[in-house]
Amino acid sequence: MSRTKIVAGNWKMNKTPSEAVALVNELKPLVAGADADVVFCVPAINITKVGELLEGTDIALGAENVYFEDKGAYTGETSPAMLKDAGVSYVIIGHSERREYFKETDEEVNKKVLKVFEYDMTPIICVGETLAQREQGVTIDLIRQQVKIALLGVSKEQAQKAVIAYEPVWAIGTGKVATKEQAQEVCAAIRGCVAEIYDDATAAAIRIQYGGSVKGANAKEIFGMPDIDGGLIGGSSLNDDFAKIVNYDK
Ligand code: 13P
Repeated sequence: MSRTKIVAGNWKMNKTPSEAVALVNELKPLVAGADADVVFCVPAINITKVGELLEGTDIALGAENVYFEDKGAYTGETSPAMLKDAGVSYVIIGHSERREYFKETDEEVNKKVLKVFEYDMTPIICVGETLAQREQGVTIDLIRQQVKIALLGVSKEQAQKAVIAYEPVWAIGTGKVATKEQAQEVCAAIRGCVAEIYDDATAAAIRIQYGGSVKGANAKEIFGMPDIDGGLIGGSSLNDDFAKIVNYDK
């Protein structure tokens, strides 16, 4: 089965609303006509405006987080219904920065994944090991645990639509990119884990991204690996290098 590549920008906590307008207007023509699916995951305050600017384009709108309750007294949180109504189709869940700074657990990641599916959006489920964990030799065990818990209660049909992003924590924002072999090894292990939980057809359908210091200059070799279906891009999603990544095959 051939999977369409998916390249998602994770803007993180960057770009004010007016800066967001400028960036989207700059990038829109540069990523038009890409072979890959393109997603802009933007800060909550920018979602409505960016959504308006993306209307009529092939670029999908994404969020960087969501809360796992439908609504109510959760000051400061964003509900899945709010995202859905604003036109969001992808939601990043369990980014390592949320796990580290906001103490998100695997169980919360799982609740969010289930909610995102309930509202007919697609989760981009982030998993990844720290440098210490890699040096301790527990990378694959840890990733398998993260994947298994994230997908608890997720149906086969839902899993086939999901996106998993493998982001080694030591490669995020450090300029230290995993080798294509390191990235491939873990992405293959994730696909193997999905095959164990569900079946081969589900493993063949699910899309697995690599994230961590992806740039226009290294996207082609990373995305060329058999189990890597695109990337989740931080720093390089904030400028025109993103267009080079999206058009890695041209
Ligand atoms: P960088 O591309 O800046 O390393 O960030 C990767 C990332 O965390 C994307 O979610």
